[in-house]
Amino acid sequence: MATRRSFLKASVQGSLAIGAVSILPTVLSSCSSSKKTSGSGSVFTTLPNQTPLPYAYNALEPIIDAQTMEIHYSKHAAAYSKNLKEAMAAESVADGTSLETILGKVSAYSAKMRNNGGGHYNHELFWKCMKPNGEQQVTGKLLTAIEASFNSFGNFKTKLTESAMTRFGSGWAWLYLDTDKKLQIASTPNQDNPLMDLSPVKGIPLLGIDVWEHAYYLKYQNKRADYIDNWFKVINWDFVQKRYETVA
Ligand SMILES: [Fe+2]
Repeated sequence: MATRRSFLKASVQGSLAIGAVSILPTVLSSCSSSKKTSGSGSVFTTLPNQTPLPYAYNALEPIIDAQTMEIHYSKHAAAYSKNLKEAMAAESVADGTSLETILGKVSAYSAKMRNNGGGHYNHELFWKCMKPNGEQQVTGKLLTAIEASFNSFGNFKTKLTESAMTRFGSGWAWLYLDTDKKLQIASTPNQDNPLMDLSPVKGIPLLGIDVWEHAYYLKYQNKRADYIDNWFKVINWDFVQKRYETVA
């Protein structure tokens, strides 16, 4: 079984970095949640600016309504990006430093950095984890790994739903790859995520669901369970699968 030290060493050598230094080329400066291929592996890089929403505000209807998407992206998520950039400037974080690098040592920064760095990262991932045009099935290596870890896709869905439902207040539920490169499910409060050095669950987020009320309240009100159940119909499994294959 890999130790945390060996995992981090492997990350620095070319897999995904948790707290490892990511040197970002200028070409990625306007791009977020990209991946940079380097030698034997790839490194995800998320930068402070919002990337364009990969679909129209109304594209996920009827699962997620256009007004919720517009407010979520252009108000809530935009504020995380803006506040993150303020925190980076105030705390002398070098331009081009990735969120992955910042979050890996976020305990060294302010609460503003933690809340908004996490908020920006989580939403940049969240938009890409969804897609319009009908329910997609998970296939390939990711399906094999899900079945190996959770016995069946149905059991995986049940566990992720439970994790999202039992997150008291605001937060996220994750499918993530832990430091032993095993698939795990957990939730985190507020805008925390498994990349953070201070998180009790550590790893690489592959898929995340936002269970802040701002993500669903206009359409679903207090019915978080209905939002979660419907959200499974808009998961972009192609994206999640590629993400998994990059880091597994
Ligand atoms: Fe959100």
